[in-house]
Amino acid sequence: MTNRTFTILKPNAVAAGNTGKILDMILRDGFTIRAMRMIFLSRNDAARFYAIHKGKPFFADLVEFMTSGPVIVAILEKENAVASLRTLVGNTDPAKAAEGTIRRLFADSLTRNAIHASDSDENARQEWSQFFTPDQIMETDYYL
Ligand code: CMP
Repeated sequence: MTNRTFTILKPNAVAAGNTGKILDMILRDGFTIRAMRMIFLSRNDAARFYAIHKGKPFFADLVEFMTSGPVIVAILEKENAVASLRTLVGNTDPAKAAEGTIRRLFADSLTRNAIHASDSDENARQEWSQFFTPDQIMETDYYL
């Protein structure tokens, strides 16, 4: 079934100039971009986005990192989108990420791991709702 997921290209991916390469990998893998923009997360944005990790030892570093520079947020569509993007992205820890995955290629560390990919359909919808209103999501296949 065709459905949607949400991604964030993190500050280290943007700062290193890797967003074009990462988006190319995503598009070549068959995803369609339904919404995308570059933003600067506030501390509130980052803390809200990662609320599930509040209280964990890495939370403060994660918020610090995610607010250290601009990010690209995007809604992506594909058959089985959530699982498919997580396969392309690879393990959270780049040391454990498979050869050829985005994190294996572009992550610097467990925290600075280049990209976020939603882990369920429900979380994807909740996550993109933090950044996109329904009118900002392209529902028509103008460019296909
Ligand atoms: P992400 O997929 O965006 O979801 C939570 C983020 O927390 C994760 O990627 C990493 O950037 C960061 N993180 C840092 N340390 C850990 C850890 N030990 N386990 C999971 N996530 C971590």
